[in-house]
Amino acid sequence: MTSTLAGSSTFGVPPDLRAELERGRTLPAGWYSDQAVYDAEQELIFGRSWQYAGVASQVAEPGQYLTCRAGAVPIVVVRDREGALRAHVNVCRHRGHLVAEGCGRRETLQCAYHAWTYDLDGSLRRAPRSDREPGFDAADWSLHPASVDTWGSLVFVNPDPDPVPLLETLGPVPQSLADAGLDLSTLEHRGRSREWLVEANWKLVVENFLECYHCPVAHPSFSRLIDVDPDAYRLTTARWTSSQFGEVEQRAPSRYPYDPVGAIEAAQFHFGWPNWSLNVFPGPPNVRVLVFQPDGPHRTSTFVDGFWAPGTPDSVIEEITEFGVIVGAEDTTLVESVHRGLATGLVEQGRLLLDSERLIQHFQLLVHDALA
Ligand code: FES
Ligand SMILES: [Fe+2]
Repeated sequence: MTSTLAGSSTFGVPPDLRAELERGRTLPAGWYSDQAVYDAEQELIFGRSWQYAGVASQVAEPGQYLTCRAGAVPIVVVRDREGALRAHVNVCRHRGHLVAEGCGRRETLQCAYHAWTYDLDGSLRRAPRSDREPGFDAADWSLHPASVDTWGSLVFVNPDPDPVPLLETLGPVPQSLADAGLDLSTLEHRGRSREWLVEANWKLVVENFLECYHCPVAHPSFSRLIDVDPDAYRLTTARWTSSQFGEVEQRAPSRYPYDPVGAIEAAQFHFGWPNWSLNVFPGPPNVRVLVFQPDGPHRTSTFVDGFWAPGTPDSVIEEITEFGVIVGAEDTTLVESVHRGLATGLVEQGRLLLDSERLIQHFQLLVHDALA
């Protein structure tokens, strides 16, 4: 699938911006609300990177499918009859209706508009009345291919049919989970996936995830659980990922927001380019995938899928999930305020404190390099 930026982009990347980012200046404020920047991001970032799609157990059997989107590209992931996992752009080649919705199990992928029917491998099997059409060759009208891969219980998709392998982009993150005794393939998806809207540009939501400089100010319950002192809270970066590691705060255990008892002794918060994160809280083995999907320049759809060790009591899952909801609501208020502030254009570029905020710098350099 190809598209072109020509005609859609009216912004330019300033030639000295990279050097400014390296000195701790931020991306220009306009990049957080311009439609032209947003359009360029869709093509140059979301059109060619791995994005979290859903839970592997939903596509374990032949015919099982799930739908998702990678940036603005709708994608259907399906297990074909031979057992291979496939991804197709979920847009009918006839006139563009979405082919599949939600998730479930089907023999074929049939479009609900005029019943063009695709095989699970994406090839067009039947188009009603096409036999009355001279020169119609079904072989020309397969669904466009996309890429799919799994990491343990997690499914990822990439609109690019020929991408860098998923594993390569994960860098040191799998090892960090393994070092904590976490095995993604043994964790179970539990509880309802949660979704909420944030009225802010997706990059602000990511950047807020990437620093804990705001934690002592804005997250009282989180800061009673995790030691957010800059000498204790560890930050690391790799090519396409960055990570934060926090020990349990030892000063006042009686004030913990939940009882962090279990095999996981420390917190890990990993970011994966361009818009997904893995959150591990102290307690029973757990990984919560938090995704920030752009929904226009001024809005982000956020959702979270929780994975837990088999046998984790519902009450523990609810308690930790509720803690995450409180912290998430605090973050939403912060980033919505930043979005309104930057949209005034009155602060053209901010200044990062690199000791605490260098993961934002790492992210902004990736954004810069993708668009430059
Ligand atoms: S748009 Fe899908 S069959 Fe017509
Ligand atoms: Fe936060």
